[in-house]
Amino acid sequence: MTAVIRAESLTKFYGESRGVVDLGFEVEAGEVFGFLGPNGAGKTTTIRLMLDLIRPSSGRLKLFGLDVRKQSVAVRSRTGYLPGDLHLYERLTPREYLRYVAALRGLDGLGDGEALAERFELELERPIRALSKGNRQKVGLVQAFLHHPDLLLLDEPTAGLDPLVQQTFNELLREVVTEGRTVFLSSHILSEVQRLADRVAIIREGSLELVEAVETLRARAFVRVEATFGTPPPQEAFAGLPGVRELERRGPVVVLALEGSADPLIKALARYEVLALDSHEADLEDFFLALYRKGKSDAE
Ligand SMILES: Nc1ncnc2c1ncn2[C@@H]1O[C@H](COP(=O)(O)OP(=O)(O)O)[C@@H](O)[C@H]1O
Ligand SMILES: [Mg+2]
Repeated sequence: MTAVIRAESLTKFYGESRGVVDLGFEVEAGEVFGFLGPNGAGKTTTIRLMLDLIRPSSGRLKLFGLDVRKQSVAVRSRTGYLPGDLHLYERLTPREYLRYVAALRGLDGLGDGEALAERFELELERPIRALSKGNRQKVGLVQAFLHHPDLLLLDEPTAGLDPLVQQTFNELLREVVTEGRTVFLSSHILSEVQRLADRVAIIREGSLELVEAVETLRARAFVRVEATFGTPPPQEAFAGLPGVRELERRGPVVVLALEGSADPLIKALARYEVLALDSHEADLEDFFLALYRKGKSDAE
């Protein structure tokens, strides 16, 4: 079976400056593929390459088995796109705007837009300039989905959406993939990608760090514990504790990754003067910290 997206050694430089370097990955029909990375990692660059809005410096990129440069029109007609920097026609109402987009797609009326707007509780008659950020984002989503595309390229789609709307969005994605259609979505939030995606690629500084099933990623989840001490404890104070890895030290602050029971760590901490203690589920930064630490200790 042909992959819906296939990138091979895909590289984009903006003059001297790095966009993305040597990306290789495949996205299959019927999956939500999360493209996760911090700001500046190369997410938007990758999506723009897929739509032939910018051209690669080297490498190959195929969507539906078609060359995105030579068969750009065919690719775009089967693709819905939500840009990260959404620009809308401020003076139009959502209905007018969506009718315009639908007409460009060769559709009468709003296509699937009417039903989608209803589902997202998007008011269609007020001018776009009067809409909140969340409502503008809904307009962006509806225009991406209204022609029932085989592939959705969504650049940070949940920006500005409140939790209830995110739930609706999540349900919509599930329906889309059940129909055998495909979603590629970018995000800088680990928990969000874990919630929405089936597989995830992590990109950092233009390069892929890993591509794996969200379940595999979830199995690596940990809690980040940050302790501030009166006096820094000895270097080996937390070595060998079950489920505990030391990630970082900054003076009196020690950052630890914890998997499983907190008890051994709590008892080890209690031997020292703890001025402050903070813990939360690991985010993307913590994840990179752990990845980097692991690389270092493997090399040692
Ligand atoms: N038009 C451009 N000209 C020069 N550099 C750019 C341009 N667009 C993006 N970049 C650079 O490419 C890198 C990746 O950017 P981008 O793809 O926008 O990242 P992300 O979407 O993950 O935040 C960044 O270092 C950014 O500064
Ligand atoms: Mg971006």
